[in-house]
Amino acid sequence: MKREINFTLNGDPVSIEVRPNEKLLDVLRDHLGVKSPKHGCGRGECGACSVLLNGKSIRSCITLAVEVDGQEIVTLEGLEKNGLTDLQKSFLKHNAFQCGFCAPGFTISATELLNNNPHPDENEIREAISGNLCRCTGYKNIVGAILDVAKKK
Ligand code: FES
Ligand code: FES
Repeated sequence: MKREINFTLNGDPVSIEVRPNEKLLDVLRDHLGVKSPKHGCGRGECGACSVLLNGKSIRSCITLAVEVDGQEIVTLEGLEKNGLTDLQKSFLKHNAFQCGFCAPGFTISATELLNNNPHPDENEIREAISGNLCRCTGYKNIVGAILDVAKKK
């Protein structure tokens, strides 16, 4: 049996009926057209599906949609509502990604970090993105891009 949930998605109110076992990732991608969170491992291990729940990064592939009833969700689409963020510009400048599949998840994790700690050092950055996996890069450019933004804040 479906249940109605109401939450804020990227600043806009959303009301939708979901099954009790429906994952937030599937609701976002398949029913709400929000495609930046990616389906990677589906087990909470790769970080590709990361979104912000009340400002905290979570894995939407292991979060039930009913859990976000009444909460605030922000995805990459919300972060870039007014154009590319400084973080995204820095990722581009540093050629931080290749295929880009992991990029939204890294961006969510780095955004959470910089919101809580505007001047992280390299170790803190590596710790913050330790739950995000990238198959293409060696992480060096990703860390460098975040460090660059941190220095300018
Ligand atoms: S798809 Fe969610 S953590 Fe990998
Ligand atoms: S750039 Fe391809 S997985 Fe990260």
